[in-house]
Amino acid sequence: MKIGNETKAWWKEAVIYQIYPRSFADSNGDGIGDLNGITEHLPYLEKLGVDVLWLSPIYQSPNDDNGYDISDYRNIMTEFGTMEDFDRMLAEAHKHHLKIVMDLVVNHSSDEHAWFIESRKSKDNPYRDYYIWKDPVNGKEPNNWGSCFGGSAWEYDEATNMYYLHCFSKKQPDLNWENPKVRDAVFDMMTWWCDKGIDGFRMDVISMISKDPAYPDGPVTDGLYGSFSPYVCNGPHVHEYLQEMNRRVLSKYDLLTVGEAGGVTIEEAKKYANKEQTELNMVFQFEHVDCVQGPIGKWSDEKPKLSALRPILNKWQYELEGKAWNSLYWDNHDQPRVVSRFGNDSDQFRVVSAKMLATCLHMMKGTPYIYQGEEIGMTNVYFDRLEDYRDIESINAYHQYVDSGIVSPEKMMSYLKFISRDNARTPMQWNDKENAGFTTGTPWIKVNPNYTTINTEAALADPDSVFYYYQKLIQLRHTLPIVVYGTFHGLLEDSETIYAYTRTLDDQTLTIACNFTDTEQPCDLFEHGAGKELISNYAEHKAGVLQPYEARVFLG
Ligand code: GLC
Ligand code: CA
Repeated sequence: MKIGNETKAWWKEAVIYQIYPRSFADSNGDGIGDLNGITEHLPYLEKLGVDVLWLSPIYQSPNDDNGYDISDYRNIMTEFGTMEDFDRMLAEAHKHHLKIVMDLVVNHSSDEHAWFIESRKSKDNPYRDYYIWKDPVNGKEPNNWGSCFGGSAWEYDEATNMYYLHCFSKKQPDLNWENPKVRDAVFDMMTWWCDKGIDGFRMDVISMISKDPAYPDGPVTDGLYGSFSPYVCNGPHVHEYLQEMNRRVLSKYDLLTVGEAGGVTIEEAKKYANKEQTELNMVFQFEHVDCVQGPIGKWSDEKPKLSALRPILNKWQYELEGKAWNSLYWDNHDQPRVVSRFGNDSDQFRVVSAKMLATCLHMMKGTPYIYQGEEIGMTNVYFDRLEDYRDIESINAYHQYVDSGIVSPEKMMSYLKFISRDNARTPMQWNDKENAGFTTGTPWIKVNPNYTTINTEAALADPDSVFYYYQKLIQLRHTLPIVVYGTFHGLLEDSETIYAYTRTLDDQTLTIACNFTDTEQPCDLFEHGAGKELISNYAEHKAGVLQPYEARVFLG
């Protein structure tokens, strides 16, 4: 069935909630979140009104990168529980009208996966070609690529005098997708999970599975290593491999599929998420969260400007219209907290700016994703000491840039406070009791001290909370087809302070305006004929202006 420019689909109408299981809820007091903790909190998620839960990886893993290094794709991480716990969680989630989307991490495995243990044994091992092995060049690494987590992307292995490729940590060797046996093994494993009744996959760095076979040196911007991106992201066979995956697995089930696609352009996104649906439903692009980039990549403490953000948001809305489907997100387990980054987390403006950012995103066209804690306005943790960080990326980056003298220790700590992934990974704040109600033991990473005021119990008791505002935004999406299917059009495109747009479907128009500043800004969009107000983060309005961080939505 067609609505506007789109074919109707459940995953276009859904709102997704991402759970980072390690930090969500600990049911047995070992300080680590687990599956039974998730099961206990399903009623909370049902109350919020989301449709789908995406779980960051829960498979067996030595946790070099918190589960994004998988040693057994068909078993549950011991710390998270058992397969029986998983089956119960899945069945209970379905009873609560919540679908479960699994993280699929198949660009790489753990070096402790049985395939890699075999692969590194000898050049003629049957698993040798499951990974990417290269001879030394002049006694050194095969090229200048740096890994995302610091150091070279190549690790020397004495047993065979060769290097293996790892775009992430050296405990995350890249799988060789050119080998049809690797594809068979991955597709079998995916089928096995689908047959268990899961509802979809979020595919980790899936744009990186096909490498340029020439393995050329990459451009050096940080003075240390070359970037692999031009030769790894959106590589020569990626669409072929995803079409094969679609034919052999995805098309046989009714799934939601979203690909994490670093380096994706509009043209590439139109292929990944094409209308004929021969690959994936949608991709995560990164331009809006990477809108501040310096010589050492994302490491910066500069607040993004609306003038940098708007053209990116608008471009993705305009260019995919009727051609491919967008995903919408501010936050995930790799990003700092949205209210700290794009809003204002001071006592005065935290709630109102969290609601404004939610409005801005949830009224756009695409499938929205909420990251755990975003719905109560959780903030960055601002750790003062390196010892408090747990994230391999943050710790390695600190050493790489401070030890080499490229960045001062003070500056690097300031970057970590602003942008480190651990800002999103502190425990979910359930109540004002010890450890925010996350655990009765010692949490694996410190709880944000603001849990005494920012927690779900307080949010549920306050009708004006960020929680109920998200609940209402979700209800609007579920009841008004224009929120899902309406065409986007940008307004006030030169404004440095207000982000505004319309959505239109048949003879209806939604008008949305969001003040991104802490001061009053002139705005006459709602003065005449915009219709009736659907939602706003202020109970009272002033004629001709938007108040600090005010957001308004009208339907006419
Ligand atoms: C993705 C994940 C991130 C992980 C990386 C390597 O970007 O979201 O958390 O570290 O891939 O798997
Ligand atoms: Ca636990």
